Amino acid sequence: MGKHETNEAQVPRHIACVMDGNGRWAKQRGLKRTDGHTAGEEALHRVVQGASELGVEWLTVYAFSTENWKRPKSEVSFLMQLIDKSILLNRREELHANNVRVKVIGRKDWRVPKGVLRRIDETVELTKNNTGMTFTIAFNYGSQAEIVDAVKSIVACGVPAQSIDEKLIEQHMYDAELPEVDLWLRTSGEYRLSNFMTWQASYAEMVFLDTYWPDMDKSVLEQAIVEFNERHRRFGGL
Ligand code: FPP
Repeated sequence: MGKHETNEAQVPRHIACVMDGNGRWAKQRGLKRTDGHTAGEEALHRVVQGASELGVEWLTVYAFSTENWKRPKSEVSFLMQLIDKSILLNRREELHANNVRVKVIGRKDWRVPKGVLRRIDETVELTKNNTGMTFTIAFNYGSQAEIVDAVKSIVACGVPAQSIDEKLIEQHMYDAELPEVDLWLRTSGEYRLSNFMTWQASYAEMVFLDTYWPDMDKSVLEQAIVEFNERHRRFGGL
């Protein structure tokens, strides 16, 4: 990990990532926003590879939010295609070969094309017994929606009010297995939570990178991990 490397350097167990800046990256180059998303998909592939090589156990990325439906129809359908054909279909054999387990969290509502839902199920099924990094795609995801859905599920189970605690709520989240987030990352110089993993990131270190998402790679990820470690060391010294 470059000049900051020490033996004490720790790789965060769970990294959650807001992949922001595809549109601005494209604009800077006189390209279409959708070209930014295509480049973003390649960056995502590099980051998944890189994180897996670094020994990250859990990587969760914000691929499509419950708010993203408000974008122009053409951009929404482009993003659907991208997740369907690129991430799930074209990349899944490689992910599988690299022992990566794929999960998807989010609302499986009527707006998600049936074909995408099917592809999600196939990919999750294909990789479910893999023992390497778990790569979770937050798709049609929002933290508030997740909490609402968890509450609905708790009520539907007839759980009495006095039995509700943090642990129970976690058991009713989209994926009860997902551990708490250690490093919460956002690219593109924006400083917003945007409804991403707010419950799971309650105790996370937050790192904000100026890099636009399509420029992300393993080395930038390592810089974020260095920052994470520097903060940890500071707190450790108190
Ligand atoms: C934010 O950039 C990014 C998204 C809304 C989608 C994230 C998608 C990818 C990284 C590509 C991989 C694709 C999928 C579907 C997994 P932005 O468009 O908000 O950029 P801007 O803020 O510069 O306009």
